[in-house]
Amino acid sequence: SNGTYTEQHRPQFHFSPPQMWMNDPNGMVYYAGEYHLFYQHYPDSTVWGPMHWGHAVSKDLVHWQNLPIALFPDSLGYIFSGSAVVDENNTAGFQKGNEKALVAIFTHHHPKTGKQVQSLAYSTDKGRTWIKYANNPVLPNPGISDFRDPKVSWYASAKKWIMTLAVKDRVHFYGSTDLKSWQLLSEFGKGNIGAHGGVWECPDLFPLTVDGQQKWVLFVSINPGGPNGGSATQYFIGDFNGKEFKNSNPPSTTLWIDQGADNYAGVTWANIPASDGRRLFMGWMSNWDYANKVPTGNWRSATTVARELTLQNTPAGIRLISVPVKELQQLRQDAKTIKAQEITSAFNLSKQYNLNTPLTELDLNFDLTKSTELIVKLSNAKGEYVNLGYSVPAKQLFIDRTHTGNTSFEPRFAKKHVAPLSLLNGKLNLRVLVDVASMEVFANQGQLVMTDIFFPTEDFTNIEISSKGPAQLLESNAYTLKSIWK
Ligand code: FRU
Repeated sequence: SNGTYTEQHRPQFHFSPPQMWMNDPNGMVYYAGEYHLFYQHYPDSTVWGPMHWGHAVSKDLVHWQNLPIALFPDSLGYIFSGSAVVDENNTAGFQKGNEKALVAIFTHHHPKTGKQVQSLAYSTDKGRTWIKYANNPVLPNPGISDFRDPKVSWYASAKKWIMTLAVKDRVHFYGSTDLKSWQLLSEFGKGNIGAHGGVWECPDLFPLTVDGQQKWVLFVSINPGGPNGGSATQYFIGDFNGKEFKNSNPPSTTLWIDQGADNYAGVTWANIPASDGRRLFMGWMSNWDYANKVPTGNWRSATTVARELTLQNTPAGIRLISVPVKELQQLRQDAKTIKAQEITSAFNLSKQYNLNTPLTELDLNFDLTKSTELIVKLSNAKGEYVNLGYSVPAKQLFIDRTHTGNTSFEPRFAKKHVAPLSLLNGKLNLRVLVDVASMEVFANQGQLVMTDIFFPTEDFTNIEISSKGPAQLLESNAYTLKSIWK
């Protein structure tokens, strides 16, 4: 059943469950013209509880159709996070007719013992109905309490499946030819490699090509220990030979896919056709510091927008670049070209250009050579606001959500979040997607991403730009965006 999607704080162009609790996106796989999104879901409450896999599909990564719950808890436990693949070669033998089998590989978490094991379920009807494999689990627990979130992909050159699994403070890689029997290949992350402020969760491993060279990207979500508190996702760049991941950076290098507070447990879609070739990502737009307490009514949480990931050679080394998928451009309406001008005191963008909905995309270009601080302020008539800014001396992008309205549900919420960003010749580009209760900022063509949520008591429809010291606003663009639920 589709929810009404009209409630206060309800995202209008992000996926959110029709009702009740959601956390991690799961089992993202493309098959027969549909992008599947499963998600950690508790259909009986707006707080975390016995986990199910909720389900939605999309033909364009933008509009979502809710489908019935795909996986329910059973005698082995709750259905925790995991992945799904198309079993093209029928390696597991689940395929019956012409339709390829979709296989979900997930963690069973036993609520009494806390024991975590890996299990399978499959669908031979394009993901509409799911059958649990009779001999679950396929990977028993070796005596480790945190042993979860399998991300499986086909490693074509050796004709085998690779499972990347979060195991307490590291990842394990397993191999299989049939998805049913798994051998440990190696582990990565032990000791001081990367960030270890919290437990390692929800890994992903995938190749990307940069300047003709193939590199492997390893995602690891950690909670807590994020750069701005609580949950966040780090990544490693390296090489993978079908057995071991070799980090290309010194162990102390810590890289984050998003430095806002609200992008967690995100992984990438499986089985995107080679003719498309993109690496597509979605995360959970919340944080365990307050996910169970955010002031939404009959549902909790949303996903980020779908993003395309690439690698880029930078002076600091190879880095991950994230941008919103191009399909989102179909939501643009009322395109405004903003004239180049000098900004000193507050320039009211929404009044000047008649942009007065909370659903906004900004694509702003600045030259900050003579500025010390730039602020893009979104506000309402109640004096509530969020400041997106750049501090030139500190070389930091920031989102300050201290005064965003309803912040009292959790003391760690009302904060200013900062992230390092160097400018090239003083130039700053801010691509900003503002929904009712969130802001996703892609700075300098996706070199730095910051995603933050907020809960104003009235929507933010006023946009004002100001600068300490004159800023040059270069020609820019702004759009109001359509809701996907109307
Ligand atoms: C991450 C996580 C996963 C786990 C799931 C349980 O947010 O803790 O590690 O599988 O949520 O809902």
